[in-house]
Amino acid sequence: MTAGRADDAGRGPAALRRRLAGVTLRTRLIVGLLVLFALAGLGVAAATGAALRPYLIGTLDAQLKATSNAFSASNQGPPPGAHPSGPDATGSMPHMPPHAPVGTLGVCFYSGQVTNAVLAEYHDGKAFSRSLTSADIAALRHLTPGKPASVDLSFGKHSGDYRLLKTTDGSAVDITGLPLDGLQRTVSQAQLIELILFGAALLVIGLAGTGWVRLSLRPLSRMTATATEVAELPLASGEVDLPHRVPDADPRTEVGKLGAAFNRMLGHVEAALARRHASEARLRTFAADASHELRTPLAAIRGYAELARRQPEPLPAEVAHALSRVESESARMSALVEDLLLLARLDAGRPLESASVDLTRLAIDAASDARAAGPDHRWQLELPDGPVLVRGDEHRLYQVLANLLSNARVHTPAGTTVTVAAAAVPGADGAELTVTDDGPGIPDELQPGLFERFVRGESSRSRASGGTGLGLSIVAAVVAAHHGTVRVTSRPGKTRVTIWLPASRS
Ligand SMILES: Nc1ncnc2c1ncn2[C@@H]1O[C@H](COP(=O)(O)OP(=O)(O)OP(=O)(O)O)[C@@H](O)[C@H]1O
Ligand SMILES: [Mg+2]
Repeated sequence: MTAGRADDAGRGPAALRRRLAGVTLRTRLIVGLLVLFALAGLGVAAATGAALRPYLIGTLDAQLKATSNAFSASNQGPPPGAHPSGPDATGSMPHMPPHAPVGTLGVCFYSGQVTNAVLAEYHDGKAFSRSLTSADIAALRHLTPGKPASVDLSFGKHSGDYRLLKTTDGSAVDITGLPLDGLQRTVSQAQLIELILFGAALLVIGLAGTGWVRLSLRPLSRMTATATEVAELPLASGEVDLPHRVPDADPRTEVGKLGAAFNRMLGHVEAALARRHASEARLRTFAADASHELRTPLAAIRGYAELARRQPEPLPAEVAHALSRVESESARMSALVEDLLLLARLDAGRPLESASVDLTRLAIDAASDARAAGPDHRWQLELPDGPVLVRGDEHRLYQVLANLLSNARVHTPAGTTVTVAAAAVPGADGAELTVTDDGPGIPDELQPGLFERFVRGESSRSRASGGTGLGLSIVAAVVAAHHGTVRVTSRPGKTRVTIWLPASRS
């Protein structure tokens, strides 16, 4: 039962669909056209044979009747020297009428016994005696008088299909036959000519059809090209301009309808992307404005807290504690606001400063600041002798390094070794900056969206760091603004952030 089903699946429409899966529409159309035409040719050839044969047999039967009459007239009465004991014993031979068609077969039965058969072999009616086999004689006996029939006779080298007519006159029975091979040759010839003509037509149709199908499918190729161009556009973010439209949009044709629908879809996509871009821009402006506006009140809060602490009178312990909390939280909030403002500005594509920056000096400064902040870690530098120059914003690049070193400090235990390396990459026409630590590594679940905003670990160490999860998103945004790349590889014992920046051209 299972085998039966598998068999069905192997032959059914699903199997055909599977087989056609990788075949182009153009090939399908051309092959389909040729197969249909070839089938039509074979059908016409078969129909020709079926229609021509009865017609030719009708004509042959008329000729047979005339020949039969002439044969009967030439053989009135018993053949000379006929003997009732058997045909071959007599040596007698019926008369073939003059002008009998070549191949005419004549047989006479006299008193139920067959005489020798006679076969006309020349146009002048000259005929020769032929002996029939017992199978031939049995077949001749079964003929219905007056009704032509086709019989396969096997006498001598003249064996073959014959059209035979039996006539009776008292005890005399005459059988006349005309060969069918000429008729069969005519039918085969006609079929062969048809097949040759169809073959030639198939070739012409194959060539012309290929050109025609290619021409007809050209609008689809144009549509594919447009769709490919649109698919290659960066649609995920930023302002998207979709100038591409399909030229074939005539609603009277099938391809035109598809083109018109495709163009409408592009219009909707463009409108949706424009709305998304506008709302992103609004959000960015809002974040930038809000961060900017928050700076002043935050500075005021910190100023007032400091002022209150400078009171000459000693403050009650709880008030002093509350004031220090206000100061530390407002400092944290100021840092957060600065980060948000920076991200909003980078998102808006605000140009950064562009100067020649020496990454080795930046690495030395950042590492010495990190050493001061994290004396329990081991800080190492791997730098070349000369400067490693890139073009960019020194302040922002320092911030990138500071964020990475801060991560290597706050998300790893004391005693962790942190290595900062910078090197020029001549082949890639840029410079590489790496920060490597042998700490516990970034949790696996964080790694896929590590550069997203507000992504941070839930470990006690991460929480204790008081980080907001903006550090690495700032790294990514600053590096992208420098047309560089950043990638992270992390496993327990080895976490490495690699930054590539284009080289300074000055
Ligand atoms: N070197 C590192 N070792 C282990 N975990 C790390 C390392 N660097 C980053 N992480 C993990 O990645 C998370 C995201 O880092 P990111 O710098 O973006 O945020 P943060 O350090 O938590 O906060 P912020 O940098 O804004 O103060 C961290 O919370 C931490 O879990
Ligand atoms: Mg961080």
